[in-house]
Amino acid sequence: MNLQTLLLDRFKAALVVIGAPADAPTPLGRSTRPEFGEYQFNGAMALAKLLKQKPRDIAEKLVTAVEMDDIAQKLDIAGPGFINIHLKPEWMAQQLKTAKQDVRLGIAKQATQTIVVDYSSPNLAKEMHVGHLRSTIIGDAVVKALEFLGHKVIRQNHMGDWGTQFGMLLAHLSDQLASNQVAETALSDLEDFYREAKVRFDNEDGFADRARDYVVKLQSGDPQCLTLWQEFIDVSIKHSEEVYKKLNVSLTRADIMGESAYNSELQSTVNSLKEQGIAVEDQGAVVVFIEELADKEGNPAVYIVQKSGGGFLYSSTDQAAILYRCQTLGADRTLIFTDARQALHFKQTEIVARKAGFISDSQSYEHCPFGMMLGQDGKPFKTRSGSTVKLADLLVEAVERAEVLINKRESDLSAEERKIIAEKVGISAVKYADLSKNRTTDYIFNWDTMLSFEGNTAPYLQYAYTRVRSIFRNAGVDLEQLDGTILLEAEQEKALAVKLLQFSEYLAQVTNEATPHVLCTYLYELASHFMTFYEACPILKESVSQEHRISRMMLAAMTAKTLKTGLDILGIDTMERM
Ligand code: ARG
Repeated sequence: MNLQTLLLDRFKAALVVIGAPADAPTPLGRSTRPEFGEYQFNGAMALAKLLKQKPRDIAEKLVTAVEMDDIAQKLDIAGPGFINIHLKPEWMAQQLKTAKQDVRLGIAKQATQTIVVDYSSPNLAKEMHVGHLRSTIIGDAVVKALEFLGHKVIRQNHMGDWGTQFGMLLAHLSDQLASNQVAETALSDLEDFYREAKVRFDNEDGFADRARDYVVKLQSGDPQCLTLWQEFIDVSIKHSEEVYKKLNVSLTRADIMGESAYNSELQSTVNSLKEQGIAVEDQGAVVVFIEELADKEGNPAVYIVQKSGGGFLYSSTDQAAILYRCQTLGADRTLIFTDARQALHFKQTEIVARKAGFISDSQSYEHCPFGMMLGQDGKPFKTRSGSTVKLADLLVEAVERAEVLINKRESDLSAEERKIIAEKVGISAVKYADLSKNRTTDYIFNWDTMLSFEGNTAPYLQYAYTRVRSIFRNAGVDLEQLDGTILLEAEQEKALAVKLLQFSEYLAQVTNEATPHVLCTYLYELASHFMTFYEACPILKESVSQEHRISRMMLAAMTAKTLKTGLDILGIDTMERM
C-alpha cells in the first residue's frame, strides 16, 4: 500500500465533490512535526483563487467532503487553510500487521512499464575506473527498485567496444601475441597496455600507419582482425565482470549491448535522418543543425552523425540504440546513467531522435546525470601520483580498512567470521557513500566518514539491522512465525509505525526520479526511529507485559524486514552479527 497515494485519492474524490476543476493542484505531503499529524493537504490556498472563495472556507468544505473515517482519527485546519491529517493508530496497526505477514511487505507489484536502463557502460579499451563506479551502482540500485515495484526492466550495458583507438591496441596486441604471449597475460593490466600502445603510436616509425590499417580492416570486417578484436574485448569484459561480482551488481554478459552491436544499423539510421530532411550534408559530413539549441548569436548547435570519409560517431550509435530500444524493445522509459558532462550530448540526441520519430510522444528518454567523485582536496579523485584510481584497487583498500575497524571492535566472532564481515562492510561502505548522496552533485570521497558506525553510512545501517535481529535471537523467537496485535500507544511507537508504512511511497519516488539517495535517507531515518523507539519502549525487560512485548516485537520484525528489503534493493549486504 502506498499511503500517500491512498490519501491523495481520497482528496481527489473530495475535490470533485466541492466542484474544483479537474486540473486543480493536489499538494499532499508528509507533515514535518507530529502535532501537524502525519500528512498535510495544502491545496486550499491555490484553489481559493480558482474558486474565488476564502482558503479556510474551502478547507472546511474539503474536510466535510473527504471520506477519511476509516483511516483518520481527525482532520484539523491550521493557519490559512492547511489540512492536517491525523491517522488512526488502530488502522495503522492493522496495515502493519497485514504487511508483516506478506513477503512483499504489503507493497503491490504495479507491473506497468517496460524500462530500459543503460548503466555502467565502460569503455573496453581501458580498465574500469572510479568514474564508472557511480554509473554502475546507482544504475543497479534503480534497476532493483524498479523490479521490486514490478516493472519489466531491460538492462543495457552500452560498452564502448568500437572506435579508432582499437586500431592502435590491436596492432600492439598482434605483436605481443606474435612474441608468444597469450592475450590474458598481455592484457592483464589494460591501463599499462593502453599506455604502451600509445607510446608506440606516438614514437615508433610505421606503427601509426599499421594502427590506421587495423582500423580500416576492422571496419571492413576482416575476419582475422575481428578475431583479434574479439580476443581483446573478451579479456576486457572479464575485467569488468570481476568488478561487478565484487560490487554485488546484477549485470551479466547477457546485458551487454556494446556500441559494436549497432554497426550494421548505423548507415540506415543516418539515411533515415537524411531522407526526413533532418540531417544534411555539410562539408562532406552529415550533420543536424539544431535550432532549438542555438548559441547567443543564433547559430544552431551542430550535431554530427557521420564524418566526412564515412566514419560514424558516438552520436550515430546512440541514434541507432534509440531505434532499438524504443521500437524493438518497446521501452516506455529509457534511463541512461552517465556523468553530467554528457548532458548536452543526450539533450541533442533526444531532440534529433524525437524529430525523426525514433522516440514517440508517449516514450520518455531520461538522461540521469551524476556529479564527480572528488578527493579530499576537492579536485577529481586521483592517486597520489596523479593517475586515475582503478576501481579494483579501491575496493581492495576498502576491505582492508574495514578489516582494521572490525578487528578493533570487541566481539566473540572468529577470525574467519570477521573476514567475511569486513568484506561486506568495506564494499558496502564505498557503495553506500555513493548511493546516499544526491547524484546530481559532486561528492568528496572520504574513507573515515563512509566507514563510520555513526551517521548515514552502510556500517550504521548494517549494525542497526544486526541489533534488531539480536532481539529475536535473545528472546528465542522466530521473526517469521511471530504474530500478534500491534498496539500503537507511545509517541515513539506511532512514529516508527508511520515510517514503516511509508516505505512504498519512498520507493515510488526513487523509481520516478532515479534517485537512490531517497531510499538511503529513508532507511537511515527508519533505523534512527527504531533506536529511539527501542530506548523508550523496551521489549525484553521483565516489567514489560506479554501483550506489549509481542506488539513491540511485531514493530521490530517489520523494521528488520524493511531494512533488509531496502538494503537488498541498494545492493548492500546484511548479516546476522557483526
Ligand atoms: N561508454 C560511455 C562512457 O564511458 C558511456 C555510454 C553511455 N550510454 C550511451 N548510450 N551513450 O562515457
